[in-house]
Amino acid sequence: MRVAVLAAEAVPYSKTGGLGDVAGALPKALRQVGVDSLLIAPLYRQTKENLLDHLAIDDLRIDWRGREVSAQVYYSEASGAPTFLIHQPEMFFRDSIYGYREDYERFAFFNHAAIVLLRRGGKPLDIVHLNDWHCGFAAVEIAKLRRWDEFWRNTRTVFSIHNLAYQGAFGMEELWKLGFGDDFSRNAFAFDGAASAMKAGLADSDMLSTVSRRYGFEIQQSENGYGLDWLLRRRSDRLFGIVNGVDYDVWNPETDPDLPAHFNAHDLSGKRECKRALLNKFFLPENLDQPIFASVTRLTAQKGFELIQQTIGEILATGAYFIALGSGEGESENFLQRLKNAAPNQVGIYIGYNETLAHQIEAGADVFLMPSRFEPCGLNQMYSLRYGTVPIVRAVGGLDDTVENFDRVSGTGNGFKFDEFRADKFVEKIYEALFNYHEPDVWRRIQRNGMIVDNSWENAARKYVSLYQMTRA
Ligand code: ADP
Ligand code: GLC
Repeated sequence: MRVAVLAAEAVPYSKTGGLGDVAGALPKALRQVGVDSLLIAPLYRQTKENLLDHLAIDDLRIDWRGREVSAQVYYSEASGAPTFLIHQPEMFFRDSIYGYREDYERFAFFNHAAIVLLRRGGKPLDIVHLNDWHCGFAAVEIAKLRRWDEFWRNTRTVFSIHNLAYQGAFGMEELWKLGFGDDFSRNAFAFDGAASAMKAGLADSDMLSTVSRRYGFEIQQSENGYGLDWLLRRRSDRLFGIVNGVDYDVWNPETDPDLPAHFNAHDLSGKRECKRALLNKFFLPENLDQPIFASVTRLTAQKGFELIQQTIGEILATGAYFIALGSGEGESENFLQRLKNAAPNQVGIYIGYNETLAHQIEAGADVFLMPSRFEPCGLNQMYSLRYGTVPIVRAVGGLDDTVENFDRVSGTGNGFKFDEFRADKFVEKIYEALFNYHEPDVWRRIQRNGMIVDNSWENAARKYVSLYQMTRA
């Protein structure tokens, strides 16, 4: 089976969130279960030059808005799978990866260039695996090409929803400029008086998936469907939930090069050293018996940061530490800054993006807070589990699929979980965690229950293979 994975971001080349982690890891995992997979992503200014292996194509000619645009293609295997990075400076060499008015056009170009590249490769694909709205364009283009181009006749598309909240909307009048002026395309994109790349992907892909089982159900309901729940219900026989894996080559406390000490489920002594180092890093007093509550997140409404704002007073009143790494909405950033000023001996903050620190926090903290409003999958709670950092999560999306509330009687469970989006419900779980934290044997048990969970990519990759096979059925 030959599969091309397309994504707007992919580790180690680019990342703003979990999509990058997933798109970077999946092609490698597919190869490990015997699939001939490759990855295609844009080449951004942020991509480190030393990751590029060689220039594969110097002059890829792409018909674009009535003229010919030239792109280059770089080859790399740094992701663990053959990777082609599309280099078109005007489109992709910018200060940030997203956030431009014409993002829809940039990713439409990316999709079209990827299709030209695959065609030029000459070997037909069984599956083109598309991710999020940035790849909705390719679903429509391949559906059209299939009608007359032998090369594409047997290619099937799989579209994975990582976050339905971002839909890539733009004006219908732009469609013809992007090569989608025909009725078939207009139907696919049309949504609520505008064009939606997400809707196009959902409408025209052969198979749909999302990144947890529970999110797969949630988005079929009007409260979480962003106006597209009807389409997801209509296509529910083609919609599957597959929980993301964790790349344990990158997120493994036994080998993680960012940590001052290593540990595993049998010997947690190294974790204490990581905790000490983390407190030192933030110039906090070295009181190792007080728990560290932590958060690593994009500061957006999705992540439920206001529940942390509403409960942080109670957390700090117990004497615990709070360490946060995040960037995003100014108001949340300001809140963190004020909190730091108010309790300088208990609070450590880092506003910005810092990969190394994300690893060090996962390792050094005791409790990880993730009270999301919605969470398609969520990776940090799974990293926390492996690093012996007990997650407190809201029972939504992938958080519900991967965290089980600890039960003192049976000794089962790996974290703490609450339902309603309410501060008092969150606080209850914070106290439940603290109560168990102060009984070291019980706490070890919770940590170990989490550390031995196998969320490896191999499981997820096998499920994708079954999904790919189903496109033939
Ligand atoms: P989402 O993709 O919605 O942001 P996920 O939990 O799936 O949520 O993935 C977030 C990823 O981004 C994780 O790998 C996390 O460590 C990383 N991350 C988020 N914020 C930061 C930050 N400020 N610095 C470093 N890494 C971050
Ligand atoms: C999105 C979601 C997150 C998920 C990630 C990878 O960014 O917000 O929950 O883990 O995609 O699938």
